[in-house]
Amino acid sequence: MKSTPVIAIDGPSASGKGTVAQAVAAELGFHYLDSGALYRIVGLAVVRAGGNLENESEVLSILLKIHIKFEQAQVLLNGADVSDAIRAEPISAAASKVGAHARVRHALLQCQRDFRQQPGLVADGRDMASVVFPDAILKIYLTASAEARAERRYKQLIGKGFNASIAALLQEIRLRDQRDSERAAAPLQKCADAVEVDTTHLSVAQSIARVMALYRALPR
Ligand code: DC
Repeated sequence: MKSTPVIAIDGPSASGKGTVAQAVAAELGFHYLDSGALYRIVGLAVVRAGGNLENESEVLSILLKIHIKFEQAQVLLNGADVSDAIRAEPISAAASKVGAHARVRHALLQCQRDFRQQPGLVADGRDMASVVFPDAILKIYLTASAEARAERRYKQLIGKGFNASIAALLQEIRLRDQRDSERAAAPLQKCADAVEVDTTHLSVAQSIARVMALYRALPR
């Protein structure tokens, strides 16, 4: 439904998009779309099926056979809870690889647009403002230095009981930035009409407050 407002929050991996988007959605009573989770589920499904992440047709045929469901805080793949499994670092890289395929992105488009329901939606990803919701009422490009993002990812992974090394994470983040921004299909980019919010020196609360202030300042 076009009249349903969308706040699009795009940015590189581990920039805090998810945390900020979820908090803004909760504060406004809006729905929340974690589009990265979709690409992560597809990546996980391909890895589990022993498929080739670089092969577009193979990824697409696996995608067309799986069943994806978001249930409150849980993400289900064929009915099984994969909320933690999709956050493992190898699956981050797998998600980035499957996201490079144009036909895979196209197959996931409608599923993302279906999240647009009253009273509104906060959507986080790489191409929310440019492709999925180009008519979003507020477009945010949330970013932070690669070092700050590696440190955040490190804390997140350790907190979930995964092993991690900051140096390896920094290298992986740089690689993923490069892959996500240089791909031909819907690359990560800051749209001309997006507002950049750099969270390198901002706390989570300050980042949320910045986005809320931008939303409240919109003309009614
Ligand atoms: O936001 P995230 O780190 O969970 O995303 C994981 C990967 O999924 C990311 O490296 C690229 C891909 N992705 C994408 O291509 N488009 C999106 N809208 C969201 C994620």
